[in-house]
Amino acid sequence: MYKSLLRPILFSFDPEKVHYFTFSLIKLSHKLGFGGLFRSIYKTTDKRLERNLFGLKFENPVGLAAGFDKNAVLYNELANFGFGFIEIGTVTPLAQEGNPKKRLFRLKDDKGIINRMGFNNEGLEGAIEQLKKNKGKLIIGGNIGKNTQTLPENYTADYLTCFNALHPYVDYFVLNVSCPNVGSHAKLNDKDYLEELIGAVQEANKNFDKQKPILLKIAPDLNPVQLDEIVTLVQDTKLDGVIASNTSMDRSGLKASEARLTEIGNGGLSGQPIKDKSTAVIKYLADKSNKSFPIIGVGGIHSADDALEKLDAGADLVQIYTGFIYEGPSLIKKINKAILAR
Ligand SMILES: Cc1cc2nc3c(=O)[nH]c(=O)nc-3n(C[C@H](O)[C@H](O)[C@H](O)COP(=O)(O)O)c2cc1C
Repeated sequence: MYKSLLRPILFSFDPEKVHYFTFSLIKLSHKLGFGGLFRSIYKTTDKRLERNLFGLKFENPVGLAAGFDKNAVLYNELANFGFGFIEIGTVTPLAQEGNPKKRLFRLKDDKGIINRMGFNNEGLEGAIEQLKKNKGKLIIGGNIGKNTQTLPENYTADYLTCFNALHPYVDYFVLNVSCPNVGSHAKLNDKDYLEELIGAVQEANKNFDKQKPILLKIAPDLNPVQLDEIVTLVQDTKLDGVIASNTSMDRSGLKASEARLTEIGNGGLSGQPIKDKSTAVIKYLADKSNKSFPIIGVGGIHSADDALEKLDAGADLVQIYTGFIYEGPSLIKKINKAILAR
């Protein structure tokens, strides 16, 4: 029903407006009592889907990727579509507008999206207010970043502010160092800086009674040398895992015309066009590390087979974003059923 009825209507409007409209629609449908119905349609409950990873028990291995519920306003409702976990954020210390609009574009023929949202979010205070409403059972990841205006010498302080404030409210953390839309690339790609950042956050983690898992989210555009550095970094710092991958800067092989791509301009590409790239990164990390750390696979999952491909490449869990927009909520169930069918 989503693809034949709802999607054609939604896709005829501006993507960012549709995003907020969909949020209102999901909220309203829950207020009207449809949550149970969604659960019964979309949720797959089966012991065999459970995954134990970095001390957490995931009901199933299919999660919602960061950027969809940036401000943690919809995680309880979204969980009714069958997700095993939801990652909120990227959250920055202070609320910020993000980049000027328009900043979100569909590439329909490619089943892709280009975005340069630039960490628009309500900041820590906004997220915490929402997370206090957490009903408790759902696994929530806190994806954190720095404010756009923050000077390089204060990047670590921004991550620490987010980490310390969100610690009581999320189950795992993601250091987002791979957003292509907020400048700062050079420093966040530097392995010495990453080591310093990870060390600082791990130190802060020790101040809490219960330590939370910390993961690093990386770009799909890293070359083998950079990926080798990531493997060494994760092993040396004993980081809990990696999320591969964020959006891509690469535009090769797209069906969209040059003119359309020029008109859109900068931004991170997601969806089907980055599927193979993300899978290759997962496989590289898994092989090079002898699968010594957990990997969450994300990037271009639009079908159950795409998800199985990520798992076969070495991912322990998967996440979806663009596939959720293009294929609708039934994708989650399809993936879980395919995993069970194996
Ligand atoms: C509109 C949009 C906003 C996003 N915002 C974030 C974000 O704030 N933080 C983040 O770590 N990833 C963000 N992402 C990246 C996704 O979490 C995911 O890593 C990427 O889109 C690849 O997965 P997909 O092909 O399933 O969309 C965003 C993606 C999109 C399309």
